[in-house]
This record gives sequence, C-alpha cells and structure tokens, in this order.
Amino acid sequence: MGRILGAAVQRSDEKFYRKPKKIKYLLFFNNYLLFLQSLIWRNNCSKNRAMLIELKDVNKTYNNGQPLHVLKGIDLSIDKGEFVSIMGASGSGKSTLLNILGILDNYDTGEYYIDGRLIKGLSEKQAADYRNRLIGFIFQSFNLIGFKTAVENVELPLFYQGVSRSKRHEMAMEYLDRLGLADWATHYPNEMSGGQKQRVAIARALITKPKIILADEPTGALDSKTSEEVMQLLGRLNREEGVTIIVVTHESGVANCTDKIVHIKDGLIGRIEDNRMHRASVFGADTIMK
Ligand SMILES: Nc1ncnc2c1ncn2[C@@H]1O[C@H](COP(=O)(O)OP(=O)(O)OP(=O)(O)O)[C@@H](O)[C@H]1O
Ligand SMILES: [Mg+2]
Repeated sequence: MGRILGAAVQRSDEKFYRKPKKIKYLLFFNNYLLFLQSLIWRNNCSKNRAMLIELKDVNKTYNNGQPLHVLKGIDLSIDKGEFVSIMGASGSGKSTLLNILGILDNYDTGEYYIDGRLIKGLSEKQAADYRNRLIGFIFQSFNLIGFKTAVENVELPLFYQGVSRSKRHEMAMEYLDRLGLADWATHYPNEMSGGQKQRVAIARALITKPKIILADEPTGALDSKTSEEVMQLLGRLNREEGVTIIVVTHESGVANCTDKIVHIKDGLIGRIEDNRMHRASVFGADTIMK
C-alpha cells in the first residue's frame, strides 16, 4: 500500500515537475520568437536609415607618370544629416576622396551612390548638374573670385542655375545677412579677413540649398578663434537645417566639433569614431589649437 502510495506520489511529483518543463519550452519558444522579431526590426531599421552617401570598394589611381594607387578600396556610408570629419596624414587620399564625393573627379572601380543614384561615368553636363543641385563646396583658400564683390561671389552658383539677376541678388543678400556680412556685400575679397572670406564662401556654398556640404580644410588658413567660429557655424547649419556636412581636416580640434570621425590611412578607411560626445580632442570640446 505504502509502495503504491509512494508510486502515486512519485507520479504526481513527476506530473508536477513536468509542467514547468512545458512552461520552459513555451518560454524558450517565446524568447526565440522575440529574438526573431528583434532581428526583423533591426533589419527594417537599417533599411529605413536614410543613407545619403555610399561608397563600395572605390579605387582611384593617378596615372600621370608613375601610376599612383591612392584610394585602395574605400567602403563608407554616411547618413542624411550627419556631421562627419575625415582625418588622415598628408597624402593619405583625403582630398582625392572628397573630389570623388563632390563629383569633381572620377574613380576607377567600385560604386558611389548619392541618395541611391549611382554616380559613375557621368557626362560633364550631368556631373555639373548633380553638383549644382546636390553639393556645396568650401575650400581652405576660399576660392572666391578676386574681381567680384562678396555679393557677386555668393550669387554665382545661382547664375549657373539660370536664376534671374534680381532674384539671385536678393537671395545672395539674404544669405550674407544670415552670416552676419550684409555690410560687407560690396567689398572685394582682398578687403576682408580670412574669417569673413570663409563666411562668404559658406554663403556661396549654401545658396543653392545643397543636401551635402563638402569642406576641404575649411579652417586651414584661419586662426584658432576664427576656426572655432566657422566650425560652430557649420555645426548650427547641420543641426538646424539638417545639411549633411563632411569636413576634411588635419586638426583634431576641428574634427572634435563633428559627430563622427573617419580616419583614412594609406588610401583605406581605418577607425570610425563615434564623436557625439565631442571628446576626441585632448584640448577639450570647444577649443581648436593651431
Ligand atoms: N592630380 C593628381 N595627379 C597625380 N597625383 C596626385 C594628384 N592629386 C593628388 N595626387 C597624389 O595622390 C596622393 C594623395 O593626395 P591627396 O591630395 O588626396 O592627399 P591628402 O590626404 O588630401 O593630403 P593633404 O593632407 O596634404 O592635403 C598624394 O601622393 C598626391 O601627391
Ligand atoms: Mg588634401
């Protein structure tokens, strides 16, 4: 009797313990479903991420004399609204990369997409059309036309877009005003300071409302204080107007103003730093040392 009872107790114990096993399976299955769901969600998120620029295995060789393989398989993607800097030693291929991004130069192999459109084998006219519509350029040496006034320099991209004289003048004045240069509209570049010239150049880059601003050493010819002002200005444009900005620089303080730092070494992308906390420079968040 005792044994029978014992067996019954044992059976009911087994039953009792079997239930949690089922629950365990259910929980396992449930977790598995959640895991699958999160994978699908993550995949969707990456699909929805608004990628603006994508380079896949981009190569570039200069063939003037001895062939020089400068870009050796660049893979890089930049989302809409990012504020990115590209750093690297002299000769590492930064300007070459920026010229390709700006459709100022061709690449040999690989793929380059802007907003999903393949930028390859374009005619001069097509390239100029894309540039005028999508990209604004800022250079170290400002590249202003010496015999034109500030306002005429800013108007220039609109002239190439066929905008009427009065409209382009009105718009150029508006942009100069936004950059605090309304009083300097009729001055020539040689009458202005480096910082003022760079602000004219920024107004000229912005006047066509580009999606992308490409800046090659924009603070290279400026003192520390003016460099800070220019970088703060670019930061504001990025935050408030959502312009995607890519800055090539040698200066860690300048790179520290951006949210992402892409390191290029010998024609290849190296480390990519998330710099949203702006802690990349040993000199602090708001200082640019020259
Ligand atoms: N048009 C060209 N023809 C031939 N070689 C070139 C040309 N442009 C650049 N190079 C060479 O390609 C290499 C990369 O040049 P690039 O201008 O891209 O470097 P960088 O990283 O911008 O350098 P820096 O910091 O000095 O501006 C260098 O060795 C340079 O001499
Ligand atoms: Mg360069």
